[in-house]
Amino acid sequence: MHPWHLRLIKLWNTYKLQSYRPVIPTEVNHARLLGDIAALLQQPVERIETLWAEYQGLMAAKRHISRLDQVGTLSSEEAFVIHCLSALFQPPALIEIGTHQGKSTRRILDSIAFLQLQTAVTCFDIEDLVRYFDAAEATLVLRDVTDSVEQDILDRYAPGIIYLDAHPWHLLKNVIAAVLRREDWLLAIHDCSPILCNPKMTISRDQPSLITARTGHWERHVLAEVFGLDDPLDARLNELESDSHFLRIFGTQHGLGVILPKALLAA
Ligand SMILES: C[S@@+](CC[C@H](N)C(=O)[O-])C[C@H]1O[C@@H](n2cnc3c(N)ncnc32)[C@H](O)[C@@H]1O
Repeated sequence: MHPWHLRLIKLWNTYKLQSYRPVIPTEVNHARLLGDIAALLQQPVERIETLWAEYQGLMAAKRHISRLDQVGTLSSEEAFVIHCLSALFQPPALIEIGTHQGKSTRRILDSIAFLQLQTAVTCFDIEDLVRYFDAAEATLVLRDVTDSVEQDILDRYAPGIIYLDAHPWHLLKNVIAAVLRREDWLLAIHDCSPILCNPKMTISRDQPSLITARTGHWERHVLAEVFGLDDPLDARLNELESDSHFLRIFGTQHGLGVILPKALLAA
């Protein structure tokens, strides 16, 4: 082989290694996931295993996978993490930011009904594309809360769980920072996997409409900045704690991040 040919192959391999190509995994290590949930929630793993067995029955009865898909929305495993949070903390309010057609809301509503909770579900989006739930089941609020997280959510509803699945940088930053200033709200964040993190984002923080899996997501960038790490791909981001909160990113298809106030566990 000519030296120039070898050089070309080397250059191509370097390019491939450096370029960002997200491939969402189809398999999740369930034993590890259940152990990680039990560890974060300080529960016996047997309790989480029982919840998972029940949850699989719920998913099958509601045909979640065939109706709602596993990619581009809450996967079964990610919905199960929120199911566990709901079962343990029984929140009076669950707020979704970024609802789109309501596939993730459907899974959340089915969990709440299954667990026989009185949780009121409120969804924030900037447009109404809802198809998977009706107005009697959850309230859709058409509002951009980027600059009003406290007034429109944290101070308005009884503290509970926020599920964040909208990708603009400023929205992520403001929601995460606002929740971390409090010790009464739980936050679950979609798309925190290193696989969806392009370390060399080619779009600016002010271009919200351009964010897709192909550009890479901002979630890990924002979490790294808020938790004081330089590199969004730093593996320490998957399991961190501050004086007042735990951050855990579960190894699910899209990486589900959970920010949990220590005070809630103590209570
Ligand atoms: C990835 S989709 C949500 C998918 C949905 N959670 C599901 O699993 O089916 C992101 C949604 O965030 C919404 N969005 C974008 N910017 C927003 C903002 N500033 N406030 C609220 N929602 C926003 C978009 O309109 C879009 O519907």
